[in-house]
Amino acid sequence: MKFFVDSADVDAIREIAGNGLIDGVTTNPSFVACSGRPIKELIAEICSVVDGPVSAEVAATSTEEMVREGRILGSVAPNVAVKVPLTWEGLKACNVLTTEGFMVNVTLCFSANQALMAAKAGATFVSPFVGRLDDLNIDGLDLIAEIRAIFDNYDALETEILCASVRTPNHVKQVALIGADIVTLPPEVLPTLVSHPLTDKGLAAFLADWEKGGQTIEE
Ligand code: G3P
Repeated sequence: MKFFVDSADVDAIREIAGNGLIDGVTTNPSFVACSGRPIKELIAEICSVVDGPVSAEVAATSTEEMVREGRILGSVAPNVAVKVPLTWEGLKACNVLTTEGFMVNVTLCFSANQALMAAKAGATFVSPFVGRLDDLNIDGLDLIAEIRAIFDNYDALETEILCASVRTPNHVKQVALIGADIVTLPPEVLPTLVSHPLTDKGLAAFLADWEKGGQTIEE
């Protein structure tokens, strides 16, 4: 499973990218607005830090304008994935942009039929939102399982399932078990996947014993 970072915080992305642990980045209009930076400059910098796909979202709602904005964003760097919303207009824009050779991430997916339509429109990625369904007492993980099952029924559907709105270590484990292709995570969630109290306790005990032994490791 690939790990993307869900953020427009370049410092946080740079730090995580330095650990070799991430395969891409997703941004959204809220993150970009919050950064206070011009979108093209910001996306160009993120693309210089990360080799994998970097999603940059259009702000238009008509197909024509989404295509225009998508072409601009997609030309910022070869690894930009143009992000469009899962609307009828967005799917038409997806089709045009993928035909022109751009990667496209269709976002704000909340149903299996929406995901199927994104795949039919040629999306490179479809982004179902797990946490926002959970917020409504609808199990977001069920949606990931449905989309996985549908896509696995048809070899011709090559769209990757990019799980978004992933907020907890349990979400990560469950979507990995289901077989999602990608999970995108807020930078602060990544370290929580690593921490375990028994690891900390075990390490402390090993180091205490080592110190008592008085050894060092040298050439
Ligand atoms: O980038 C979109 C998505 O991942 C946002 O997640 O937690 O605001 O639902 P959340």
